[in-house]
Amino acid sequence: MKAIKTEETDDMSEDLKIYAPPAELVAQAHVSGMAAYDALCAEAEADHEAFWARQARELLSWKKPFTKVLNEADAPFFKWFEDGLLNASYNCLDRNIERGLGDKTALIFEADGGEVTHTSYAQLLAKTCRMANALKAIGIGKGDRVIIYISMSVEGVAAMQACARIGATHSVVFGGFSAHSLRDRIEDTGAKAVITADCQVRGGKQLPLKAIVDEALTLGGCDSVSKVLVVNRAGAKVSMTEGRDLWLAELMKDQPETCEPEWVEAEHPLFLLYTSGSTGKPKGVQHSTGGYLLHAALTTKWTFDLKADDIFWCTADIGWVTGHTYITYGPLALGGTEIVFEGVPTYPDAGRFWKMIQDHKVTIFYTAPTAIRSLIKAAEAKDEVHPKSYDLSSLRILGSVGEPINPAAWEWYYQHVGGSRCPIVDTFWQTETGGHMITPLPGATPMVPGSCTLPFPGIAAAIVDETGKDVPNGQGGILVVKKPWPSMIRTIWGDPERYKKSYYPADFQGKYYLAGDGAIRDAKTGYFTITGRIDDVLNVSGHRMGTMEIESALVSCTELVAEAAVVGRPDDTTGEAICAFVVLKRPRPTGEEAKAIAKQLRDHVGKEIGPIAKPKDIRFGDNLPKTRSGKIMRRLLRQVAKGEAITQDISTLENPAILDQLSQVN
Ligand code: WTA
Repeated sequence: MKAIKTEETDDMSEDLKIYAPPAELVAQAHVSGMAAYDALCAEAEADHEAFWARQARELLSWKKPFTKVLNEADAPFFKWFEDGLLNASYNCLDRNIERGLGDKTALIFEADGGEVTHTSYAQLLAKTCRMANALKAIGIGKGDRVIIYISMSVEGVAAMQACARIGATHSVVFGGFSAHSLRDRIEDTGAKAVITADCQVRGGKQLPLKAIVDEALTLGGCDSVSKVLVVNRAGAKVSMTEGRDLWLAELMKDQPETCEPEWVEAEHPLFLLYTSGSTGKPKGVQHSTGGYLLHAALTTKWTFDLKADDIFWCTADIGWVTGHTYITYGPLALGGTEIVFEGVPTYPDAGRFWKMIQDHKVTIFYTAPTAIRSLIKAAEAKDEVHPKSYDLSSLRILGSVGEPINPAAWEWYYQHVGGSRCPIVDTFWQTETGGHMITPLPGATPMVPGSCTLPFPGIAAAIVDETGKDVPNGQGGILVVKKPWPSMIRTIWGDPERYKKSYYPADFQGKYYLAGDGAIRDAKTGYFTITGRIDDVLNVSGHRMGTMEIESALVSCTELVAEAAVVGRPDDTTGEAICAFVVLKRPRPTGEEAKAIAKQLRDHVGKEIGPIAKPKDIRFGDNLPKTRSGKIMRRLLRQVAKGEAITQDISTLENPAILDQLSQVN
């Protein structure tokens, strides 16, 4: 890849605002300057396998070194480092202690109410081992699946590490998902055990976890679960089912603080994480141990330039892939110190993030555009919660993830949080990619607000048309990755055909990984900008959701709903908002009645999927706009959702009059 040079930034493009990384950061960075970036890209281009093999040898500790790098025999089911043996938890914990970091703080946990606890590497290892032994004591071993349904906590991180230690495959379910969603994931994974807590504490409130597990287990399909291990977070009242439910602390009490790691093959599934696709059912994205951990460590090192004395804070929840890669695995694999935050950015007030950066002297801060946009609003309304009221001078690098960051939010983040001295890494990646794919490197890449800039070294990202042909820069197209990379999704759990169809479609002769996003490269700089999903996936506050998933949730309210169509519309704060068009089995309601039914439907979706999937707008019609052949005209619905005048050809529309009905918001 021919990358742009720092020195050329002045005359690159008149209309692009370009921010060069600060010289002192460039001087000390792991990847220092564009020449170093270019050299890494050239190395990968010259010999893709040798590039990744070198990184895997340098960054990971192997019990048995691999001799094979990439096996493409069964493409697109790729295997990396397949004859190597390693353990992810050994790499994240033991070896840091062997390197003398036993007393170094691994986790700085800040509770919702502000209490802070430091956990050293030695303490985290001891906790992980006791938990691993506890899991063994209830019969969990290599290859078994364990569901983790817990909020941000030291126990949450330790539970993931404990599974990795004994070769069990974890599947973390975000604490905001409902009993139905949890049940679906338990059933699909066939998990033997669930690790949960009595409750989660967020924004000063206790929200149930154990009770939701109880409900999920009564919904059917969960016979695989024999034990539920419960962390006592806040002494909330829970009911314990004899023989099935155990307090984790009691089970761990007498367990030894050492536990020999289970050395697993590099391809052994480290975790399954469910994410939304185009169809109704979320897919269990399967990640490997070796390749995944390599990219987690390498991207933490290069994209965040993590050093021994950094205080790293990724605000994501461990229920999402960002929390997996940049809380549980990446920073720990490098022996870093990181923050684990239980609460929410707006409690006790919208200055919480800034106060925590000040208190803990955070040096690297990684968050989502949605959070930034909502904090901008709060800061503009009230000086006390404006970043200028805090000492944020410890910061050296900022990051963004999960959705496009609009240039205005980028500029604000850069100026007011980063004091115009911290590079922003706008990291594009996905649950399926395991780690960063397209991102600036903070000591190398000149930044352009709104662009995720250039591919990470070794990632063969490209933009093609429907036939798989490269499109020229300046022309939008479909984002693909032309070569396999170590941390890529291995399959969809239990559904290899769906994996093939979703990610290696026949359109590209099964050769390219299809990201599902559209993108465009700048005509002059070659920089990538992600233009949004090209499938039926929505991105609301950085949370991925399928329109069909929400539609099925709506129509599952069988007593009320005849038909539903869901589309996204732009939203200033959440990026996209969910807009549902619903045909009821009864006459179209208006006024107060419509409001009441809309609320009922929102609650229903909350119960089926989780509160994050509740539609912002619900609109009722006697019908949906359909072609004469009965196809719902979604493009039309997107315009209606935006409140735009209809400019499209509606001559094929059978029932134009319903457009008026559907423009009314309840
Ligand atoms: C979107 C989150 C623009 C994109 C790590 C992708 C982004 C989906 C960015 C994956 C970014 C993520 N700029 N869009 N920097 N990062 N996306 O699986 O549409 O929850 O396909 O992974 O989020 O979401 P997921």
